[in-house]
Amino acid sequence: MLQNLKSQPADKILALMAQYRADPRADKIDLGVGVYKDATGNTPVMRAVKEAERRILADQTTKAYTGLAGDPAYGAAIRDLVLGDHIAADRVAVVATPGGTGAIRQALELIRMAAPDATVWLSNPTWPNHPSIIKYLGMKMAEYRYFDNDTRGIDFDGLMTDLEGLKSGDVVLLHGCCHNPTGANLTSDQIAQMITLMQAKGAVPFVDIAYQGFGDGLEADAQITRQIAAAFDNCLIASSCSKNFGIYRERTGALIAVAKDADQQALTQQNLNFLNRQNFSFPPDHGARVVTTILTDPDLRADWEAELEETRLSMLNLRQQLADELKRLTNSDSFDFIAHHRGMFSRLGATPEQVEAMRAANGIYMVGDSRINIAGLNADSVPILAKAIVTAGV
Ligand code: LMR
Repeated sequence: MLQNLKSQPADKILALMAQYRADPRADKIDLGVGVYKDATGNTPVMRAVKEAERRILADQTTKAYTGLAGDPAYGAAIRDLVLGDHIAADRVAVVATPGGTGAIRQALELIRMAAPDATVWLSNPTWPNHPSIIKYLGMKMAEYRYFDNDTRGIDFDGLMTDLEGLKSGDVVLLHGCCHNPTGANLTSDQIAQMITLMQAKGAVPFVDIAYQGFGDGLEADAQITRQIAAAFDNCLIASSCSKNFGIYRERTGALIAVAKDADQQALTQQNLNFLNRQNFSFPPDHGARVVTTILTDPDLRADWEAELEETRLSMLNLRQQLADELKRLTNSDSFDFIAHHRGMFSRLGATPEQVEAMRAANGIYMVGDSRINIAGLNADSVPILAKAIVTAGV
């Protein structure tokens, strides 16, 4: 049986992680996978997470199953974190999932069950695992233009032109904030125009929000998701706690489905529970319990928000340092986009050859499309990267 298997394409981001680890150079710089690192290169356990874990260890009396949707308190806490009070709670179905990727997978399976002929539209570019899962599930997909490689900003005319091709019932996947891989984000006004077009076409929005709190702040980063959810009868939202709680390996995410009314919500919730049961039964609990403990305790929550804000500001500071250094070296403002981008990533607009040249000559690892993880930098490596970018002729 197993001899019939074919080898699978390597995930580019994970392959880069392995390549970095195998590089013996001591001064190599990892700007690859999207993991936050402090100035010493460590990915810290956040203070509030440590304290929540201490409390759980002391107080937890059972590890019996929760429910198929996970602990209801977690679902309510994530719903409030992402949607605030913008959508009536009786319209919102939530299931805990293994990470944000689990939420994306469950959302796509739900789409396949409800609308098997729907085409899922992806920004070009997008996180490579989006098309990979869609292809694996045998679903239809299409792309809409998103990034302008000359300005390193949004190609909004291209985006609107491409979305003219939407058919009724098609699904538009967009990033709620901190676009991965580009770092270029739609404005609220551009989202409003997209919403009008999608409504006219009868399309359904699907928002992937994996970096809430890493862009302009916890509330500001949820704004586009809320604007979209409020404008449609139905909306799917994949939310991740990996980054903003720094609990990557705990696999903590949620799929939020906004339904038209309470009856549709009940039906949707029942289907989401069913999907969890088919795929893995009960979702992981530890990370979800940590998140619930933090979000429902005012002191822990305040401390978490403060540390998240420190994290966000340190990335903004690194963006500014890199943009300033490139301005100094090039005597131009052509790299100012780095300071304007938001979130963990910026796409530099380098060719694959230039990316490879920086890796070979300087041990700088970035994804082949020239996505850099800003958090992989520190005050020492910013000038090294800036010089390498200029030397490579980006
Ligand atoms: C990334 O884009 O680097 C992260 O989302 C991690 C991953 O799983 O790819």
